[in-house]
Amino acid sequence: DGEQSLSRSMVNSSDKISRKSGSSVFQHSVERWKINSSLVLEIRKNILRFLDAERDISVVKSSFKPGDVIHYVLDRRRTLNISRDLHSLLPEVSPMKNRRFKTCAVVGNSGILLDSGCGKEIDSHEFVIRCNLAPVVEFAADVGTKSDFITMNPSVVQKAFGGFRNESDREKFVHRLSMLNDSVLWIPAFMVKGGEKHVEWVNALILKNKLKVRTAYPSLRLIHAVRGYWLTNKVYIKRPSTGLLMYTLATRFCDEIHLYGFWPFPKDINGKPVKYHYYDDLKYRYFSNASPHRMPLEFKTLNMLHNRGALKLTTGKCI
Ligand code: CTP
Repeated sequence: DGEQSLSRSMVNSSDKISRKSGSSVFQHSVERWKINSSLVLEIRKNILRFLDAERDISVVKSSFKPGDVIHYVLDRRRTLNISRDLHSLLPEVSPMKNRRFKTCAVVGNSGILLDSGCGKEIDSHEFVIRCNLAPVVEFAADVGTKSDFITMNPSVVQKAFGGFRNESDREKFVHRLSMLNDSVLWIPAFMVKGGEKHVEWVNALILKNKLKVRTAYPSLRLIHAVRGYWLTNKVYIKRPSTGLLMYTLATRFCDEIHLYGFWPFPKDINGKPVKYHYYDDLKYRYFSNASPHRMPLEFKTLNMLHNRGALKLTTGKCI
C-alpha cells in the first residue's frame, strides 16, 4: 500500500491553504510522534529513482576541466566558464560518500525559531544541516551552533555581506567560514546567471585564507530531479526551496530527520507575528505568484509527512 498511499496523501496536501496564518490546519501532535521506519525506507527508495544524493549533491573535479563552458541549469541560454579557482575547489569525491547518520537536523531560517529554546536539541543530532549561511552564535540558545553542512546561495554575498564592498565585510565572511572548520559548504553556483562574480570572490577568499571548509557544488541535474520526485507525487511545487531540497537529500543519509525553522507564514498559531528570518528583517510574500517557491505547499506536505512518522517537524518550543 506504501507508495500508493504516500501519493494519495500528497494529493490532499496540495489543497488550498488558509491565508490567515495556516495555523489550525497545522496543529500536529508532538507527544505522540513516532518514527515510521518502513515509510522512511520507502521514501528513500522512491527518491533514489530520481536522484542519488550521494552523487548529485556535488559535481566532482573529474566532471570538468578549467575553461569548460556550461549552461546554467535554470537559464539554459546563458553560460558560465569553469575558472581555475572554481575547478580547484571542486571535491575529488562526493563529500557525502558513505556517510550515514541515525539522526539529522535540517534547520530552516524562519523566525519561528526565536524563543524556541531548541539550540541544545538541534545540536544533539548527529548531523546538522543549515541554510544560507545563517548566523548562529548570537542565537545559539534557539538555533544551536553545530553546522556540519551549510548551504549558501551566491546572493548571500550581497544580502548579508555587503557585496564584499568593504574589507570588514570580507573579514566578517572569512570569520564566518573559518567557524565552519571542515564542514561542507554547499554553493548552488550553476543555477542562474547573476551570482558568478560572487562565487568567484568567495572562491578566491577561501583559497587565499586557506580555509578548511569543504566546498560542494550541486550537480546540474539535482534541482530538476528533486522537482520531478515531488511532482510525480502530485506535490505541485515550483522550484524546490533550499529547505525542501535539504530534506530530500537528507533522506539518503539519515534514518531520522528532524526539521526546525520551517514556518512560511506571517503569524504563529496564536496569531502572533513571526519574522521571515530569525536573524534579519527581510520580508517575504509567501503566497505571491512572483515567488520562485511554494513554501506553504511545501510546508503542508512536510506536515503531512510528520503526521505519518516520516520526519519530525518542530514548530513550537523545545522542552
Ligand atoms: N523556511 C521556512 N519558513 C520561513 C523561512 C524559511 O520554511 N519563514 C525554510 C524554507 O524551506 C527555506 C529554508 O527554510 O528554503 C531556508 O530559508 P532561507 O535561507 O530564507 O531560504 P530562501 O533564501 O528564502 O529561499 P531559497 O534559498 O530556498 O531560494
